Amino acid sequence: MDKKIALLKDKINQANLGGGQARIDSQHKKGKLTARERIHFLMDEGSFEEIGMMVTHRSTDFGMEREKYLGDGVVTGYGTINGRLTYVFSQDFTVFGGSLSETHAEKICKLMDMAMKNGAPLIGLNDSGGARIQEGVVSLGGYADIFYKNVQASGVIPQLSAIMGPCAGGAVYSPAITDFILMVENTSYMFVTGPNVVKTVTHEEVTSEELGGASTHATKSGVTHFACANEIEAINHVKKLLSYMPQNCEEIADHLPYETADESRPELNTFMPENASQPYDIREVISAVADADSFLEVHAAYAENIVVGFARLAGRSIGIVANQPAYLAGVLDSNSSTKAARFVRFCDCFNIPLLVFEDVPGFLPGTDQEWNGIITNGAKLLYAFSEATVPRITVITRKAYGGAYDVMNSKHIGADMNYAWPSAEIAVMGAKGAAEIIFKREITSAENPEEKWLEKEKLYSDIFANPYRAAERGFVDEVIEPAQTRTKLIKAFKMLENKVVNNPRKKHGNIPL
Ligand code: HXC
Repeated sequence: MDKKIALLKDKINQANLGGGQARIDSQHKKGKLTARERIHFLMDEGSFEEIGMMVTHRSTDFGMEREKYLGDGVVTGYGTINGRLTYVFSQDFTVFGGSLSETHAEKICKLMDMAMKNGAPLIGLNDSGGARIQEGVVSLGGYADIFYKNVQASGVIPQLSAIMGPCAGGAVYSPAITDFILMVENTSYMFVTGPNVVKTVTHEEVTSEELGGASTHATKSGVTHFACANEIEAINHVKKLLSYMPQNCEEIADHLPYETADESRPELNTFMPENASQPYDIREVISAVADADSFLEVHAAYAENIVVGFARLAGRSIGIVANQPAYLAGVLDSNSSTKAARFVRFCDCFNIPLLVFEDVPGFLPGTDQEWNGIITNGAKLLYAFSEATVPRITVITRKAYGGAYDVMNSKHIGADMNYAWPSAEIAVMGAKGAAEIIFKREITSAENPEEKWLEKEKLYSDIFANPYRAAERGFVDEVIEPAQTRTKLIKAFKMLENKVVNNPRKKHGNIPL
């Protein structure tokens, strides 16, 4: 037995060394952690249990039968994160550059099956040169098996992808299907085709970092939800993100203990700028209303005219969608609509109630928006809110104009409660434009058209630039003092906690993609 145990220990040591010390050193020199070190920092101490440590590839071409590494380039297993069961796979760049073989893919698929059966989140730590070139089509098949399971798992368990190194070719599509992507600045990149192919096909000269680095995807494409300064920050973000989510779609996120106190926020009564066209940062309102330091912004550097993220309200996890008057006056455009729609759908999948702060002058006009499909993209947000069955509350802080009023979680599309601050303006359009259209004849025939226009603008504004027309109809449930926002929201979300809505039976809807 001693000899047998010694052999076992020898194999475990071999597996722990991955592709060998020299490659581990090279990984460290690039400023990257190894697959096992990442797991060590991610999971609760001593909780990780590895599955499939002795798996090796089956490839025989190109002399591959002589080069085998235990584990075959991916560490898979389960453990806990802040006490909660979580499954993780971590690609080992020291073994064939973390490339994906048939067996490497099988290990990931096995883990995904387990995560789904047992209803727990799946975290992927990606660091891979893509398809194992020596294996040809079986490797491509392995990727497709993973994509298929990602889709099966979508909406069943949370799936998070941290990109810790290269992620190229079709490999990017597994992370893209998962719920959240996190990238590390300067050491990770994602693209369908790399700089060399780009140069050949489009004659563009571009570096890997410019083409698909963390900053690029956090600001230009929106592919990544978070750009992290280093791997430890990315790992900490994964843990924090998970804390707002339940284990699976049948559960609700943990409530943190909370004792209700005086929840009024008097500073909000004097917060709104005097002039309705003056910008303010909606994140200040979010900070005042949400539990202290609980707001985690998602997609912070992309489509900044809308702010989305997780927070807690009296200890309960909520998702926040808020127009941002400090950026493009909070207008809705293609990117902000798509960004918010995806977030809304995530929250709805996992029973996370939605809170909307609305201050929106409308949809952004122009050829750029129209030609890039603002109609389809705006409809995504409309669709996402309309199909969401979680508790949904809107607070109109200032402007709620035009179609954007309908789209931003209005009562008409299923919101449960709709509050307005006294500063709310709810109308088809701004008073100046409205007056110009409906009083056109009077204005043009007036002795002083400018004066007439101002007079009519004031008239329209007096009638509609307030929340009371909407409140008279019950489209706004209550006009509240800003200071009372937090108190009202805590009560209303508690009132809605057992909400049940059954949408009509269907195979699945057809969201305008
Ligand atoms: C097998 C690979 C590999 C791969 C890297 N390696 N990629 N082995 N298959 N795809 C091996 C290298 O041979 C090397 O082995 C080790 O990993 C480290 O690679 P280096 O090139 O030395 O590292 P680095 O300079 O950091 O460059 C990393 C890299 C580069 C940028 C990822 O290796 C690279 O370009 N690899 C190929 C990427 C690629 O084209 N993949 C296929 C994409 S298409 P040694 O023995 O020296 O340590 C795809 C299709 C998926 O993935 C389709 C799904 C639908």
